[in-house]
Amino acid sequence: MDIIISPSLLAADMGNLEQELKTVELCGIDSLHIDVMDGTFVPNIAFGPDQVSMLRPLSNMQFDVHMMVQNPDRFISSFVDAGADCITVHAEACTHLHRSIQVIKSFGMKAGVALNPATPIGVLSHVYEMLDLVLIMTVNPGYGGQKNIAAMNQKIKELADMKRAGDYSFAIQVDGGINLSTIHDVIDAGATNIVIGSAAFQKNKTKQNLETFLKIVNE
Ligand code: DX5
Ligand code: ZN
Repeated sequence: MDIIISPSLLAADMGNLEQELKTVELCGIDSLHIDVMDGTFVPNIAFGPDQVSMLRPLSNMQFDVHMMVQNPDRFISSFVDAGADCITVHAEACTHLHRSIQVIKSFGMKAGVALNPATPIGVLSHVYEMLDLVLIMTVNPGYGGQKNIAAMNQKIKELADMKRAGDYSFAIQVDGGINLSTIHDVIDAGATNIVIGSAAFQKNKTKQNLETFLKIVNE
């Protein structure tokens, strides 16, 4: 299966987003990870639907929206209208996870579910078939630039085994602390969609960084 890189906009130069998007797209990247934070589910605030809709005309990349939001159902239609392509909600933030996924799918969107490091994959056993993506958080969500939790490699392996056993089609996304030292382990464990923030966006080095990561996943 092909492995993709999805750069996380949280680490981009916020005063220069149009140029940042162009740099990423010119490298041949076709998925952009956009973090939405509500200050309640996670101790930080980032990107709302208005920002996503302003970015939409600037890029043809798929917008992969990671909602770190309590009760995300309230905002799903706003992100659909804003131009999201895939919407990922946290299992821990949904009172009725199956229903939240149904809401996302009802708009014809790709649906993902994210799991905090403390959440076992078993919470997804009733929804695997509905999912386009499962996001294994490899840090506690809320901030870029944190250290990858190596114990998550085992969890990625368990999910990859489950996917194989059930012949499911969801992508296995990882997010948090992925860099040149950690990317090989998550790939070996079975990750197929790799979010990279602070190790991707760096002043005057973003293109070079992304080319290096693309080379690794295309090896
Ligand atoms: C963290 C976010 C990530 C973040 C990753 O809660 O979900 O997408 O931008 O940043 P790095 O790659 O720096 O850990
Ligand atoms: Zn994220």
